[in-house]
Amino acid sequence: MFVSSPNPIRKTALSPSRLMTHLTFYVQPGGALRGRLRIPGDKSISHRAIMLGSLAEGVTTITGFLEGEDCLATLKAFRAMGVRIDGPERGRVIVQGVGLHGLSAPDGPLDMGNSGTSMRLMSGLLAGQAFDTVLTGDASLTRRPMRRVTEPLTKMGAHIEATETGSAPLRIHGGQRLTGIDYPLPIASAQVKSCLLLAGLYAGGLTRVTEPAPTRDHTERMLEGFGYPVQREGDRVVMVTGGGRLQGAVIDVPADISSAAFFLVGASIAPDSDLLLEHVGVNPTRTGVIDILRLMGADIDLQNPRLAGGEPVADLRVRYAPLHGIRIPETLVPLAIDEFPALFIAAACAEGVTVLTGAAELRVKESDRIQVMADGLNALGVAADPTADGMVIQGGNLSGGTVASHGDHRIAMSFTMAALRASGAITIHDCANVNTSFPGFVPLAWNAGLPVAEQRV
Ligand code: S3P
Repeated sequence: MFVSSPNPIRKTALSPSRLMTHLTFYVQPGGALRGRLRIPGDKSISHRAIMLGSLAEGVTTITGFLEGEDCLATLKAFRAMGVRIDGPERGRVIVQGVGLHGLSAPDGPLDMGNSGTSMRLMSGLLAGQAFDTVLTGDASLTRRPMRRVTEPLTKMGAHIEATETGSAPLRIHGGQRLTGIDYPLPIASAQVKSCLLLAGLYAGGLTRVTEPAPTRDHTERMLEGFGYPVQREGDRVVMVTGGGRLQGAVIDVPADISSAAFFLVGASIAPDSDLLLEHVGVNPTRTGVIDILRLMGADIDLQNPRLAGGEPVADLRVRYAPLHGIRIPETLVPLAIDEFPALFIAAACAEGVTVLTGAAELRVKESDRIQVMADGLNALGVAADPTADGMVIQGGNLSGGTVASHGDHRIAMSFTMAALRASGAITIHDCANVNTSFPGFVPLAWNAGLPVAEQRV
């Protein structure tokens, strides 16, 4: 039975992991998005605030923390290593930092759930500890590639065991002497860059990372906010020298532009929409989604730009506008890497063809986002052809239908928005992981005018 209620959190006797497999969204076609919304806090920044707050000396106060399952996995891992963390209480978290060498051995494996960011960043800082740890995660996370972090960490002197295919669980042996390396990243990845910078805090000498293209720089900004010197050369080279200290800080986490993206797309495709999204992080390493939507003809205004805790923030006003297909510039791909599921929905509603290339990384996210989105769009009558590193989408009319999200939060929310322009209802299976990044998505969608019915079995 579908529950037409704006309250997504119905308490049952089932464990969260049991609930995860059986949540279905059912969305009636049509409607518009209107009003003022406060989107939950930025996931990348929330993870880093817990990590650096724990490794700092003194107290760190975080507001706007994302209380989603991914960031809670990070928080619980540091608690398990002896850090006192109070909250979260309505986004407020107080971390009593233990200093770079103050963590203690956890009693058992650290479960990172669905969170690639937790696992990859933590592998770096755990490689520098005196004790052993095991990092594990759910079925999706234990399938994802980890050699991208274990190989360079091994070059730094870390001792890490992974499965034969290079995936988690990762056994990280403590007590190793790490040495800084000069590492050209083979792929544009903020997770790998951040992993190496965090290991670099524990390494002798200089750790130097060169990116093939700029990626989100929250780690660099936050290290500086905690008083740790970071050197940069241009926009692709970043360096830290081991042996410094972090000082506790106050962190105001802005709303997550990656979560705002669903509403940016929803309002852009649904006639009569007019939304204001408040206090959204607009760090230029994250705003590719705005640039791409604008190239497609979207009407998005950045209002009241300001700085919050070292990060640029603005209110985003988005109004309906007819979209047209484009060839997406490859330079924007790393700057919009999490937003492609939503952007594919925009492309499906645009006039003409949209072509994405240079985005092979989408195949190794929480799901294979190229294949899963193409399958879902085809199920809704849109011609979407997956390629090795992207997709070709012929904009047109969306029918109703049933799609599988494959447990991928961003796929589930993207197809929810698609209903705004579909001719029939859309049913989306396997939606419980929406809670990993966007707790409260369903009531917020209701507030904006998009009623999402939920079925849990
Ligand atoms: C993230 C980096 C990106 C992104 C992920 C969060 C981060 O991953 O997809 O959701 O917080 O550093 P990659 O580094 O794998 O591109």
